[in-house]
Amino acid sequence: MSPELDQLFAGIEWHQRWEVEPGVFTPGQNDVARLLKAVNLPERLDGMRVLDVGAWNGCFSFECERRGAAEVLALGPEPAETSGFAHLKSYLHSHADYRLGSVYDLDPETIGRFDFVLCFGVLYHLRYPLLGIDNLRRVCRRDLFLETSCMDNDLILNGRARSVASFSPELDEVPLLQFLRLDELSGDPSNWFNPNRAGVREMLLSAGFEPRHMTVGDRRLYVHAMAVSGEPEFLTIRSGENVYYDVIARPLLGDRGQWKSQVGSE
Ligand SMILES: C[S@@+](CC[C@H](N)C(=O)[O-])C[C@H]1O[C@@H](n2cnc3c(N)ncnc32)[C@H](O)[C@@H]1O
Repeated sequence: MSPELDQLFAGIEWHQRWEVEPGVFTPGQNDVARLLKAVNLPERLDGMRVLDVGAWNGCFSFECERRGAAEVLALGPEPAETSGFAHLKSYLHSHADYRLGSVYDLDPETIGRFDFVLCFGVLYHLRYPLLGIDNLRRVCRRDLFLETSCMDNDLILNGRARSVASFSPELDEVPLLQFLRLDELSGDPSNWFNPNRAGVREMLLSAGFEPRHMTVGDRRLYVHAMAVSGEPEFLTIRSGENVYYDVIARPLLGDRGQWKSQVGSE
């Protein structure tokens, strides 16, 4: 490896493994090519506006740019200067931008709307998962690609994975999110919920996304979903958020008019 790349990789916590240049990979575990294949991200993104939520090292953002995206915005709570993003951006002479922020403050008024929204490895870290998904819908005008930890067919009980079938085989189809008060999942206290596939499917439908592809493998769930035009389902039923929108939903999600904009348009 060139001294320049050695320097680039030094002092950064690398989570992602991505081919920076032929045969040279960032030294993380999360394989970018494998994950993007699993969620069915197209090989070419020409002309697309892409948002990468929870970007961390930024390798998914840079891969989107490599695939021809017209504009890429990476967003997350880590400063770009210490996460590896700024180092890679400068090495690659990339035009991708980084915004310090959270999924909870995605606002179409300030960042606009995106053709493709990526949200990998974030959902189970959210203490407010539906608020996160509702915000993804606010800024997504087309496709959502999402990857998450998933309970698969297991619940965590007394620190051990136990098959849901041992409680009841029907639980597999019940939408579930197991709440994790401390560090029950992988010893990591930043994990709040572990969903099953049905749980993610139902939350997406409620939030105005139609899942097109969902696969589970090795306790991870890979999703491709499309934004549905008009107000999301949770605002079309007699929910408190619908009936008392201005009191309940507006402080969290902004003006009601935003939901009327059609998918595929600004
Ligand atoms: C497991 S890492 C996944 C990083 C990257 N997306 C990937 O798949 O390699 C989880 C990321 O989600 C970020 N994150 C946690 N809470 C977040 C929030 N509220 N909004 C945006 N990102 C968040 C973390 O800071 C971290 O960068």
